[in-house]
Amino acid sequence: MIFWRIKPLDKILETAEKKSLKRQLGPIQLTLLGIGAVIGTGIFVLTAEAAQKAGPGMILAFVIAAIVCGLAALAYAELAAMIPVSGSAYTYSYGVFGEFIAWIVGWALVLEYAIGATAVTVGWSKYMNGLLNNDLFGLVAKGSLSLPTWLQTGYFSGGGFNLLAFLIGLAVTWLLVIGTSKSARVNAVLVAIKIVALAVFILIAIPAVKNANLHPFLPGGWGNPVGSNGIGVLGAAASIFFAYVGFDAVSTAAEETKNPNRNIPIGLIGALLICTVFYLLVGYGAAGSIGAQPMLGANGMPLDPGTPAMTAACQNSQALVCSGEPLAHVMRVLGHPVIGNLIGLAAVIALPSVILMMMFGQTRIFFTMSRDGLLPDAFSAVHPRFFTPHVITYVTGIVVSFCGALFPVGKLADTSNAGTLLAFAMVAIGVLILRRRQPDRPRPFRTPLAWIVCPLAVIGCAVLFVNLSIVAKSVFVVWALIGLVIYRLYGYRRSQLANGNAS
Ligand code: ALA
Repeated sequence: MIFWRIKPLDKILETAEKKSLKRQLGPIQLTLLGIGAVIGTGIFVLTAEAAQKAGPGMILAFVIAAIVCGLAALAYAELAAMIPVSGSAYTYSYGVFGEFIAWIVGWALVLEYAIGATAVTVGWSKYMNGLLNNDLFGLVAKGSLSLPTWLQTGYFSGGGFNLLAFLIGLAVTWLLVIGTSKSARVNAVLVAIKIVALAVFILIAIPAVKNANLHPFLPGGWGNPVGSNGIGVLGAAASIFFAYVGFDAVSTAAEETKNPNRNIPIGLIGALLICTVFYLLVGYGAAGSIGAQPMLGANGMPLDPGTPAMTAACQNSQALVCSGEPLAHVMRVLGHPVIGNLIGLAAVIALPSVILMMMFGQTRIFFTMSRDGLLPDAFSAVHPRFFTPHVITYVTGIVVSFCGALFPVGKLADTSNAGTLLAFAMVAIGVLILRRRQPDRPRPFRTPLAWIVCPLAVIGCAVLFVNLSIVAKSVFVVWALIGLVIYRLYGYRRSQLANGNAS
């Protein structure tokens, strides 16, 4: 019975101990790793989408998404400290719920990581196009380097082929194949660039806040707690949740961490706290300084962002909600074009590392699933010279690049969120099950008030999930069904655990 195919936790830990990755990451590096993976397209690009869904009330959306992530992070920290091995939610689920649920979670993580990486390629392309459409700090005539409009946006957002998203996807794939992975030093520099960019934004935007810009505060209403098409504060929270995703990258470095029991929780929660403070200030500064009113449709409600109707409504508009590079746009509107371009440059330099982290996470999860026998052996084939899982990296990279060339950033982020929310909810449930089943197993970090925090995390994930756009929810369901068929036809029979090779 598949529910009883549970991989014993001691076996999982043993496997990790056998591998000898050098334990070198401390609490500061881990927090920086978390921040490096978290700050990206969410805050740099989706701020405009959140404003389109909720108006100035998007500030509340940032708070709600932060609370849900905070609750999930507390649960993550308990499992990550207790089972400090790579593979994150997939591995925990294998040890707690058994193979079937682990497969579902691993399959959902494909959405989180691969589709998340895709969303960041599109976000990157928006800032890169923004720079090319400008004058490169006076070096060229404005717009002389612009790509044709149909090559600037994807087909499903009213354009043609998003060339730059496609190219950055391929470039990162190549870096991963030749073995570039997260280097703590490079990451620290990129984090510094992002933090400085956001800090400068805050210092200029907040003094320009005018109360009048914050009214009406909730033009899209709250949204419906039991489900909507993603409009309103809850819809915005479900989308902007993407801005916080990635802190779990800290847990994927568990095997390379000094004193993981103490440092992993510090890294997870520290990264999330720091990002939350920055996001709230950026959201308030953006909405309050130039206004954040949505484009309304014929029914008086905000239009769905990323759709052709929205593209048409945004023709020649200077509104925040119409900008593909909202943070640079706010600076330009406030009369600081050079700072706007510098913020754009910071995004262009720093966002590829977020793509790299997410694609790296994806390939390693596929790799682990393949090693467990749930995916074909070819997925864990290792390159003879670079020692990287090149086959799966190419497959992932090509899919990411094509999807980036065609789809709108917001729908991609929402779809990624659907997978992430499932994984987070399963981790929170896993904490409670293990507390019951293995109360005496050492827990270096205990989720405080677990019987309140974990159920709240699950409820929070469920509320955000139902408030995702219909497109994202539908893709999720179809993806899950495909996953079930593949498991039944392949993993169920080929699983290493089923064949008695648990280690
Ligand atoms: N949180 C990451 C971003 O916003 C995924 O790009």
